[in-house]
Amino acid sequence: GPALFAPERPNSRGFDLTDAATLAAIEAARAPFFTDTPTAAPLIAAPLAAADPQPLHSPATGALIGHVAPATPADTDAALAAATPWDAPAATRAEILMRAAGLYEDHFGEIFALLAREAGKTLPDAVAELREAVDFLRYYAAQGATLTAPARGTVTCISPWNFPLAIFTGQIAAALAAGNAVLAKPAEQTPLIAHLATRLLHRAGVPPTALQLLPGAGRVIGAALTADPRINGTVFTGSTATARAIRSAMASATAPGTPLIAETGGLNAMIVDSTALPEQAVRDIIASAFQSAGQRCSALRCLYVQEDIAAPLLHMLSGAMDELVLGDPLNLATDIGPVIDAVALARIRAHVARARSEGRLVKELAAPASGTFAAPAILRISGIADLAEEIFGPVLHVATFRAGDLPSVVAAINASGYGLTFGIHSRIDGRVQEVTAALRVGNLYVNRNQIGAVVGSQPFGGEGLSGTGPKAGGPDYLPRLTAAPRIEVTA
Ligand code: NAD
Ligand code: ALA
Repeated sequence: GPALFAPERPNSRGFDLTDAATLAAIEAARAPFFTDTPTAAPLIAAPLAAADPQPLHSPATGALIGHVAPATPADTDAALAAATPWDAPAATRAEILMRAAGLYEDHFGEIFALLAREAGKTLPDAVAELREAVDFLRYYAAQGATLTAPARGTVTCISPWNFPLAIFTGQIAAALAAGNAVLAKPAEQTPLIAHLATRLLHRAGVPPTALQLLPGAGRVIGAALTADPRINGTVFTGSTATARAIRSAMASATAPGTPLIAETGGLNAMIVDSTALPEQAVRDIIASAFQSAGQRCSALRCLYVQEDIAAPLLHMLSGAMDELVLGDPLNLATDIGPVIDAVALARIRAHVARARSEGRLVKELAAPASGTFAAPAILRISGIADLAEEIFGPVLHVATFRAGDLPSVVAAINASGYGLTFGIHSRIDGRVQEVTAALRVGNLYVNRNQIGAVVGSQPFGGEGLSGTGPKAGGPDYLPRLTAAPRIEVTA
């Protein structure tokens, strides 16, 4: 009905986790799925070649949680051949995506269990992730409902493990709302969530030829799906290095002008000056750096604290860190779950060990001995230029500055080449305006944390090494996936 497409489209309400009855209802709904062991096989509109299922284990407990039967190159080829743009009227497509949003909400128990077991998500993170996925479905459905521009054709969607439901769904929802055929390649670590989401989208009415799922290795299946002349666009979220590989593959295989939307990593900074409210700054630093075990592209990596308040602020920060509970994400008391796998953990540990040997380790918590848990840590640096790359875990780097140094701090942040999120805590309006106007970043947050952008009200995406353009959950994203009228240029 018309209410679905009203401009005042509300975001998903989520769950009130301070309410005991709500918590009990969540517990009852997710418990039946704690011992499930599903299999994620390709979902393609063609006969499937047999691949040996491989076991998947929980990063928190090591328990078997299911299997993945990866797509073969023959499956990938068959899916490309079967892909058919979704030719239903725009309003019908929108209604089906709205229905899918409802199905996602109905399946919250299964989704929360799987997000914890496969991706290590705490309950608050899982609730936020389901909300974001539902918001993406409704936002792009509403935007696509009155679309007149034709689809591009076949679009490859490649997603990361850190938002295995929200980003996976957001990419697909935008491409489908525009009428494209989608080939979805989920991250190696999280095929079960992608499989569940795809089944719900099919159940809502998305045709099997318009949405096909190809779990498998990025370097094999992802590479094949982005180096094929049959694709008419790619939507990618992941590391900057992979975005570069995809861009060069598309440059040689596809027609000039084939769109690539890439959302990549960040080296995100926050400035806290001496006028900041310390309790508020500490709360927001903790959330920005350590929530989701620091496995957000938006997470705070480099904190600049004004010299005058550095000692007391770090003292408070250290005390707040001591309150964090690490453990199994299925446990309601857990604040920080595991990092995604042993490879990620080894990389984080090596980074912290180097800082320790150089005398730059300021603070480190103890991590559970089993499971892939990274100990939240604070490392001292002289500035963002000391960071060569994004460390994707609960590691906060801290530098100090003098009031007069602010312009050079801003210049150093811009010089990193990344530009995803930035936070500032200050009570001086003029300073906030000056700093935020000079920074080249996608999402700016003032006197709050710098994670958890909300679809529709905070379109999300970066500049420079952090991304290619239109922001997710904003008005410019979906139009990139339609065939806009061409302007012929004659020399
Ligand atoms: P990744 O680049 O290793 O993998 C992302 C996806 O790309 C996976 O599905 C993977 O299989 C696939 N892939 C790998 N190699 C490929 C290739 N050669 N061709 C095609 N596909 C290939 O990233 P990750 O480690 O899974 O995710 C973490 C990264 O994602 C971090 O850098 C993080 O900052 C970034 N990220 C960015 C955003 C954003 O919105 N900007 C959001 C979440 C995560
Ligand atoms: N959109 C996610 C956030 O803002 C990545 O944290």
